Amino acid sequence: MPKLCCKIGPSILNADLSQLYIESQRLIDSGADYLHLDVMDGIFVPNLTFGHPVVKCLRNKLPNAMLETHMMVQNPIQWIAPMADAQVNQYTFHTEPCDDVPLVCRKIKEAGMKVGLAIKPNTSVTLIEDFIDMADMVLVMTVEPGFGGQKFMKDMMPKVKWLRNNYPNLDIEVDGGVGPNTIDYCAKAGANMIVSGTAIIQAENPPQVIKLLRESVNKEINLNASV
Ligand code: DX5
Ligand code: ZN
Repeated sequence: MPKLCCKIGPSILNADLSQLYIESQRLIDSGADYLHLDVMDGIFVPNLTFGHPVVKCLRNKLPNAMLETHMMVQNPIQWIAPMADAQVNQYTFHTEPCDDVPLVCRKIKEAGMKVGLAIKPNTSVTLIEDFIDMADMVLVMTVEPGFGGQKFMKDMMPKVKWLRNNYPNLDIEVDGGVGPNTIDYCAKAGANMIVSGTAIIQAENPPQVIKLLRESVNKEINLNASV
């Protein structure tokens, strides 16, 4: 049986984006397992960030890093080919604007990337139930997507718990307001992939924060493994 693994993926959204590569390298050197890149189109969310040309430049500088793009976009199918060309490892998209989720999943796989299904706070987890078998990971948003630095929504934890109870081996990611003060809720609910933005970026000691997040998750994984 595949063993669940804790992965910490800092979000660089609130870093100094004029130094994207330097900031990304610093996070990897601090113990990050992957980088969570927030792509926004100004339509699905009321904000804009960067797209595949920037991701491709970053990939050239970081040939070995695991890159996840969190696609907060209205038409996720549109960006699959260019993100695959940028050698993105995992393409995580929101199911809310999609008419044909299986088609998007299939296209992502055909392009050689892992599939992440993301849901906003108001989206019930049962709405994606039929698609989970096609996914490598489910992202439960713990803030409204669009901006870093928002308050963690603890009331999203039942979704994480439901997923963990029903899919013991699924990679479950949380994103939004996650840091030392909120990680225990996520870990206890069963999340194993942790996105954290401002809590890491603005920390005096990012390696220490990453270590703390990892210890909290590993404690729960080990507890559950020994049951
Ligand atoms: C929000 C983004 C998050 C965000 C996380 O729309 O998807 O990845 O950058 O940042 P914090 O941890 O500051 O909430
Ligand atoms: Zn994100």
